[in-house]
Parts: sequence; structure tokens; C-alpha cells
Amino acid sequence: MTSFFRSVREDIAAVLESDPAARSAFEVIILYPGLHAVWVHHLSHWLWRHGLRFMARYVSQVARLFTGIEIHPAAELGRRLFIDHGMGTVIGETAIVGDDVTLYQGVTLGGTGKEKGKRHPTLGDKVVIGSGAKVLGNITIGDNCRIGAGSVVLRNVPANSTIVGVPGHIVLRDGKRVVITDPKEIRDPLSDVIIKLASEIKELRQKFQHHSHESLDAEPTAMIDEEGSTPNISPQELFQDDYQI
Ligand SMILES: CC(C)(COP(=O)(O)OP(=O)(O)OC[C@H]1O[C@@H](n2cnc3c(N)ncnc32)[C@H](O)[C@@H]1OP(=O)(O)O)[C@@H](O)C(=O)NCCC(=O)NCCS
Repeated sequence: MTSFFRSVREDIAAVLESDPAARSAFEVIILYPGLHAVWVHHLSHWLWRHGLRFMARYVSQVARLFTGIEIHPAAELGRRLFIDHGMGTVIGETAIVGDDVTLYQGVTLGGTGKEKGKRHPTLGDKVVIGSGAKVLGNITIGDNCRIGAGSVVLRNVPANSTIVGVPGHIVLRDGKRVVITDPKEIRDPLSDVIIKLASEIKELRQKFQHHSHESLDAEPTAMIDEEGSTPNISPQELFQDDYQI
């Protein structure tokens, strides 16, 4: 019981520290469903470990009714887990969550539906998972990783990485930008098509050079549209309004 109250105090302090919207401990205790779900999980997890499996699941479902957050009683949660907003968040049976983790609303720590036994993710310490992100399967997300909102992560991720996209790919590692040079690295179902197109273009360029005896630049320099060719255009120019230059 003492450890429960100690962890409640820690949870409140962590929210006050990390959420600019939190103004007082009273507000945090009353208005944060993410904390309510985690606190009820202490009870459901205790029931689960003591063999009261039905009661454990019942308690977790009651918590879901009030908070919109479903945490399986068997899931192992670290200290100071902060589920911000929370609605639609699901944490599966064999998930393991490290300390000081933040999950936004709609995050799923789920299974792929293909595995048995340990089939949910393991998160390291200080992991942040953006809203709507899905982390699926028995994979490990290293310490200090950040997963972008809306991403779908299906493979292990090394510590200190930022992952975005569907399927998720690393864009930052140890604070440095990761440049993807091979479309296969993204493991998108379209990667194969892109690779095939690239090799066909290379082949056509070689044939053209062979027949016309004209040399082409090493890389294409213009984008072609219906009206004819347009000069090389940078992403900044293309999306001027977004980049606000
Ligand atoms: C992933 C995230 C942590 C990255 O933040 P960051 O370190 O500041 O990184 P950047 O914004 O510089 O983004 C790095 C690259 O990833 C891209 N990116 C960032 N977030 C992305 C996302 N969710 N999906 C797809 N691409 C994303 C950026 O466009 C950028 O690519 P570019 O350099 O080619 O333009 C952040 O964008 C994010 O998604 N946070 C979740 C926040 C959230 O869910 N809030 C909910 C509050 S209720």
C-alpha cells in the first residue's frame, strides 16, 4: 500500500513537470484519466497475479468504461507512465513498458495477430509515442525513442531513435538525421515498385545513350509534366506556403 501511494505521488509530480496544461496536484488527481487508468491497473495487476483472472479483467474493463483506456491486467507497466488524454489507448497482455514513458491518445501496444506467447511490444525507458501510433508485435523499442503520431512500427528500434511513417522508419538517431538512400530501407510495400522503376529508367537511359550517342547527365535534372518540362524545383519552392520562406 505504501508503494502504491508513493507511485501515485510520483505520477502526479511527473505530470506537473511534463504537462504545461497541469496547474495543480488537485487538478491532476481529478482530471487525468490516463492516471486513473494506471492507478486502477495496480489493482487489476494485483488481482491477476493472485489468480483472480476474471475479477482482474472485470476491473480493467470498468476502468476502460470510465477512461477510454484499455490496459490488460497482465501488462507490466514501469514507473511514472503518463498516458496523456488517453482515449482509445490499448496496452496488450504481454506488453512491457519502461519507466517515464509517455503515450498520447489512440496509441496501441498490440499484437500482429500472427504470434502467440509474448506478442506485444517492450518499451524502454523515456519512450514517447505520438497520438494514434501503432506499435505491433513482440518488438523492442529502445530507451529514449520517439515514435511519430500516426506511425505504424513493426520492427525493433534501437535506443535514441525517432521513427515516423507507415511502416515506421528511423529519421533521427542519436540526434543526427538518418538519410534513406535505399528505398528498401523504408520497407514500404511500394519500395519494390520504386526500385523496379528506377532500374527501368537506368536501362532506358543506357539504351538511349547507346542509340543516339548523346551523353545524358548522371541524374535526371527536370521534372516532366503534361505541359512539357519544368525546371528543377526544390521542395521548399514546391511547398512555399508550408515552409513559409
Ligand atoms: C516524431 C516527432 C516526435 C518528431 O519531432 P522532431 O524531433 O521535432 O522532428 P521533426 O519535426 O524535425 O521531424 C523530423 C522529420 O520527420 C517528419 N515527421 C515528424 N513527425 C512525423 C509524423 N508523425 N509522421 C510522418 N512524418 C513525420 C518531419 O516531416 C521531418 O521530415 P523532413 O525533415 O523530411 O521534413 C513529432 O513530430 C511527433 O509526431 N510527436 C508526437 C506528438 C503528439 O502525438 N502529440 C499529441 C498531443 S495531444
